[in-house]
Amino acid sequence: MAKSHWRIGVAGLGTVGGGLVKFLAERPDFAPAGARAEIVGVSARSKDRLRDFDIGGYRWFEDPVALAADPDVDVFVELIGGAEGPAKAAVETALKLGKPVITANKALIATHGAALAVLAEAHDVPLLFEAAVMGGTPAVKMLREAMVGDEVDTVAGILNGTCNYILTEMEARSRTFADVLAEAQRLGYAEADPTTDIGGFDAAHKITILAALAFGCAPNFAAAEIEGVDQIELLDIKLAHDLGYRIRLVASAVRADGGVSVRVHPALAPLGHPLAETRGALNALFIEGRRIGRIFIQGPGAGAGPTAAAVAADIADVMTLARRPVFQAAATTLAPFTGVDAAHRLGKAYIRLLVKDQPGVIAAVSETLAEAGVSIDSFLQKSVEDAGGVPIVLTTHASPESVILEAVERIAALPAVLERPRMLRIARV
Ligand code: HSE
Repeated sequence: MAKSHWRIGVAGLGTVGGGLVKFLAERPDFAPAGARAEIVGVSARSKDRLRDFDIGGYRWFEDPVALAADPDVDVFVELIGGAEGPAKAAVETALKLGKPVITANKALIATHGAALAVLAEAHDVPLLFEAAVMGGTPAVKMLREAMVGDEVDTVAGILNGTCNYILTEMEARSRTFADVLAEAQRLGYAEADPTTDIGGFDAAHKITILAALAFGCAPNFAAAEIEGVDQIELLDIKLAHDLGYRIRLVASAVRADGGVSVRVHPALAPLGHPLAETRGALNALFIEGRRIGRIFIQGPGAGAGPTAAAVAADIADVMTLARRPVFQAAATTLAPFTGVDAAHRLGKAYIRLLVKDQPGVIAAVSETLAEAGVSIDSFLQKSVEDAGGVPIVLTTHASPESVILEAVERIAALPAVLERPRMLRIARV
């Protein structure tokens, strides 16, 4: 029998949870299949915290697991966060009781998504997470639903707004990383402990999920190669610009050589390229399908309104009884994640050195690269006041990444090289 309304339990009343409470209050007409969604119970760390929305009309649960298990809750929405602990316990409880689960928790899905998908499909209930990747910009449904008729080879983009905001501000106002980060924390853009964002882990959770959706493999966060933006210096941003590039934190998942490469690292994108032109806290994503070709989307990756709209889209899927596998294919048939050997990856690089100002230094550097078989594409020497030496920066043509890394080690050992060289990859976009 059709429901007259769906009773929603919301665990977690932070930015996204608050956004969802407000969304459902503002949209009494939100009833994609005729029935309405009504929040009946909520749970959060503190009941009495000052909030700019009213939770007085909902039953309060100290324990999110009890909320998930409550017989009056039809759909459980998990907005607590974290791969382990109460979020995982509550999601498992709801799925085992045959309740649809909606979550914005990328750490949980990237880490335990394969097991949770088996659980959801065994109990024949949806497990949905549109809000976990790119906030309000629909990337999950695009891959899981719209692209399922194609074979996707590459998914790559900017998946962390905090990092993109920091990089944009550093370049636009010639500010240091530490300075912009401190301001972002003061303004509440970045978490008090920003490691998840600036260390690249948040973007890695998201690209791990997108890889599973794009390639039909089990999500495997442990296999992601991760480097954040915390070592990016203003000097690199300026030199990259002089060479015609902008530094971005790029997350990519590429199907190659019978395996999948999932990585997050700073990379140089050519000025004018959509990734280079994605500014501030925006997110952006390329998807390349064999038949469809290249798709580009860009939009807000965070924020109460956009992310709550993504949760609402999942609520709509539950209410319309839409049913898909959790990832690209049935959970029990997902291929195991097979990584790609880094030694076989080809790429171009940016290498920045601080050297003594004396004859023969440039010759020694280019000789080391020539011996390794790495060809130089461009070369720039720049006098910078108080640098304690002369910065030189070069870009290479495409070479095996392992060969470039080995050459950089040899350059580091040259007597005229004053500090550890800085190597950044040039985005393959
Ligand atoms: N912390 C994330 C970001 C938003 O900065 O993009 C939530 O996923």
